[in-house]
Amino acid sequence: MADDSDGMLSWDESVFRDEHVFEIDYVPEAFRHRESQLQTLQYALRPAVRGNRPLNAIVRGPPGTGKTTAIQKLFGELGGQPGVRPVRVNCQVDGTRYGVFSRVFQSIFDYEPPSSGVSFKKLFGQVADRLVDEEEVLVVALDDVNYLFYENEASDTLYSLLRAHETHPGAKVGVVLVSSDTDLDVVEALDGRVQSVFRPEEAYFPVYDREEVADILGERVRVGFRDGALPMSVLDRVAEQTAEAGDLRVGIDMLRRAGLHAESRASETVEVEDVEAVSERARNHRLTRDIEALSDVERALLETVAEHDGGRAGDVYDAFAERTDLGYTRYTELVNKLDRLDLIDARYESLEGRGRSRTLTLAHDAEAVERRL
Ligand SMILES: Nc1ncnc2c1ncn2[C@@H]1O[C@H](COP(=O)(O)OP(=O)(O)OP(=O)(O)O)[C@@H](O)[C@H]1O
Ligand SMILES: [Mg+2]
Repeated sequence: MADDSDGMLSWDESVFRDEHVFEIDYVPEAFRHRESQLQTLQYALRPAVRGNRPLNAIVRGPPGTGKTTAIQKLFGELGGQPGVRPVRVNCQVDGTRYGVFSRVFQSIFDYEPPSSGVSFKKLFGQVADRLVDEEEVLVVALDDVNYLFYENEASDTLYSLLRAHETHPGAKVGVVLVSSDTDLDVVEALDGRVQSVFRPEEAYFPVYDREEVADILGERVRVGFRDGALPMSVLDRVAEQTAEAGDLRVGIDMLRRAGLHAESRASETVEVEDVEAVSERARNHRLTRDIEALSDVERALLETVAEHDGGRAGDVYDAFAERTDLGYTRYTELVNKLDRLDLIDARYESLEGRGRSRTLTLAHDAEAVERRL
């Protein structure tokens, strides 16, 4: 900070020591308050290090509770062990069985297979043969696996992974499923043929309480901000709002935005007013992320719902069909997906003389949604 301290920043100064620690791809050095969950997962995966098939596992918990970070930490360690190949697949990006295996293929062969023209069977065969030849144990984490369920791909994907040894004797594969959809009973939602071979160890990631949030964010402030640039009182305010939202990302985003806001006023310190100024945007962090991840037709549907907020499903479909050429079945699938993502509420209502029909409403403030579309 400036020596002729008048509390003002000059252009080449910053409240941050390391702004990168607030970015989404940053994996924190310290990972506290998840000891028992890490232990469960280590217990399940340990056999892999000895060349054996690990136990399968399932990781559940609401958004922003450290599930992905836990996998990144563990897989980072596992990757250093000979004979183990850990692969984390983001199912929000790779939402099909073919996509999942492409990711695994890429990890093994160091190049991406063609996105079409190769049969799944061939792709699968190359992966499995290689594992057997190299005596490697494959550990796949299907992160955000709920997206595979929304696309009806979960059972096939798991079936192929869990039964690889039947078609390719000697293949050793373990699976970790990570779900942030607390309404989804993952095991129950699988086909019977998959359930019978899937008996996972479970690790639950609850929402961090306020003290835990303050501790974790305090560490982030220590690493990311200059000494004294973000006082305790401000951290408390951020922790309070984060605990309310239940998603740690809200707090991390709020810290960063508040820091930038302080800089825009050329202030050397972040004040509560900076937090207040950015709070709404930070709390809608997840909304932004979810909308950004939508495909073009999903986005079009959300737009249509926004234009017909509270409308009946049939009427919304008529408007939607004018923009796309999708049939009613696909439309219903898309409605269900947006509903499960908590972007819209699809509720059954009895209409006089017409039986039951669904009405579609936006789950968030219309203006906030439209701004992000
Ligand atoms: N115990 C912790 N210590 C430090 N940082 C943490 C901790 N838990 C979570 N974080 C941070 O919070 C953010 C969200 O964590 P993460 O991505 O692991 O959540 P998630 O449970 O996978 O969420 P989602 O279900 O939305 O994918 C990340 O930036 C991560 O670095
Ligand atoms: Mg995650």
